[in-house]
Amino acid sequence: IAFRYVLNNDDPQNLIFLVGLKNIFSKQLPNMPKEYIVRLVFDRRHRSVALLKRNGTVIGGITYRAFHAQAFGEIAFCAVTSHEQVKGYGTRLMNQTKEFARTMDKLTHFLTYADNNAVGYFEKQGFTREVTLERERWQGYIKDYDGGTLMECVMHPRISYTA
Ligand code: ACO
Repeated sequence: IAFRYVLNNDDPQNLIFLVGLKNIFSKQLPNMPKEYIVRLVFDRRHRSVALLKRNGTVIGGITYRAFHAQAFGEIAFCAVTSHEQVKGYGTRLMNQTKEFARTMDKLTHFLTYADNNAVGYFEKQGFTREVTLERERWQGYIKDYDGGTLMECVMHPRISYTA
């Protein structure tokens, strides 16, 4: 198992990882329009963390938009392919995503609209329904969306999440 921080920067290998992620999100998040998934995964303001098998196949990932001036990120998609779920990969994926967000993007908070059936997963990853980030720092940056529960995770600038 390996993790890769992936940007759409025209690197052909990164594009292959992003196509793999787009396919997993489309399958695992059937309520999301496919065009919307494609648009965000390939958007240059978004970053992705790809979870890879030893042979390089993408088996899961997280895509988030980094708002650098506000120091927070919005997780758009998070999924692990069906036959690899409940093996602990979702937890490792989130820890690794926090670590990349903290070190590469200097983010202090993640926000996400969690699907109602994924609230339990996000709670186990340290997300709360209470948002402590000042409203001025995020309002207007993320879209209002009533298909889920807004959740927050605080990341300490000096704590390693993968150590
Ligand atoms: N509800 C409650 N608890 C859950 C859920 C869930 N839907 N999924 C996993 N958990 C729990 C597990 O039981 C485990 O608990 P434990 O540590 O006490 O054993 C813990 O969360 C972590 O489990 P992992 O095995 O690490 O997680 P997994 O690899 O299965 O990945 C994930 C979790 C990403 C949610 C996966 O089930 C998935 O892809 N689901 C379908 C797509 C989805 O719903 N994604 C989130 C949508 S919201 C969004 O993307 C913003």
